Amino acid sequence: MSDRQLLSGRKAIVTGGASGIGEAIVLAYAREGAQVLVVDLPDSAVSQNFTDVEGVTPLEQDITETDAPQNIVSAAIAAMGGFDVLVNNAGISWPDSVEGEGEELWEKTMAINVTSMFRITRAALPELKKSDTGRIINLGSIMSDMGGPNLFVYGTSKHAVAGMTKSMAVDLGQYGITVNYLQPGAVVTALSAPYFEDEDFRNYWIEKAPVGRLGQPEDVAHAAVFLAQKESQFISGLGLNVDGGAIVKF
Ligand SMILES: NC(=O)c1ccc[n+]([C@@H]2O[C@H](COP(=O)([O-])OP(=O)(O)OC[C@H]3O[C@@H](n4cnc5c(N)ncnc54)[C@H](O)[C@@H]3O)[C@@H](O)[C@H]2O)c1
Repeated sequence: MSDRQLLSGRKAIVTGGASGIGEAIVLAYAREGAQVLVVDLPDSAVSQNFTDVEGVTPLEQDITETDAPQNIVSAAIAAMGGFDVLVNNAGISWPDSVEGEGEELWEKTMAINVTSMFRITRAALPELKKSDTGRIINLGSIMSDMGGPNLFVYGTSKHAVAGMTKSMAVDLGQYGITVNYLQPGAVVTALSAPYFEDEDFRNYWIEKAPVGRLGQPEDVAHAAVFLAQKESQFISGLGLNVDGGAIVKF
C-alpha cells in the first residue's frame, strides 16, 4: 500500500457489495481512505462482511423496490453526511438465448441491471451536484460491446449500461460529474460460476486473454479506485476494459 491514500475524504455508495466485484470495491475504497455505504439484498451477507472494516456502513435493500433509491440516498446522508461517488455495481446474469422462454428473466435482469441503475443515479444527483468532483461508475461488461452464446438478456442489458453511461456523461459534465463504465472480462465470482462450470468456456477465456488468466474481483476494484479519484476529472463517457486484453485479441 502506498503512503498516500488515494480516496482520502471520499464518500461512496456501492450497490451489490456483499460479494464478488462489489465486495472488492468496498474493501479497496475503505483501504484507500473512503467511507462507504454498501447496499445489498436482505438475505445477503452485507451486514456481516464488513463489521471489522472501518468506515463501512451496510444497508440491506433490494435495489428494485420502489423506495430503494430514496432509502439508499437517505442512508448515505445519515451515515456519511453525503457522498460524492456512486458505484452502480449490482447485477445478475443467467444463461438465456433469444429463443429461450426468458420473458421473466428479461424483466428481472432489466430491472436490476438497467432500470435500478437509472433510478438510483437520478435520486443521487442532488447530492452528487453538491460535490465538484462527483463520480458515477457503472458496471458494464465486455458484453457491452459484443454478443456471446447464452448471453442474450445479459448482453442486451450491458449494452444499455453503455448507452446510459454515455448519455449521462453528456448531461452531467456541466456539474463536474464524470460518468464511466467498467467492462470486466471473465472474472471469478458467484455470478460467473454457472458459466465457468463448462471447462471449455473457462479455458476459452483464459486463452483469449493475452495475460493468460481469468480476472479476480480485485482487478476490477483497482480500476474503480482509479475512476473515483478526484484527479480523474477529465475522463468521462469511457468504457474501461478490465479483461486482460481479451477483447482486442482475435
Ligand atoms: N464476474 C464477471 O465475470 C463479470 C463480468 C462482467 C461484468 N460483471 C458485472 O459486475 C457486477 C458485479 O458482478 P459479480 O460478478 O461481482 O457478481 P456477484 O453475484 O458476486 O455480485 C453481485 C451482487 O449484487 C447483488 N444483487 C443482485 N440483485 C440485487 C438487488 N436486487 N438488490 C441489491 N443487490 C443485488 C447480489 O446479492 C450480489 O451480492 C455485475 O453488474 C456484473 O454484471 C461481472
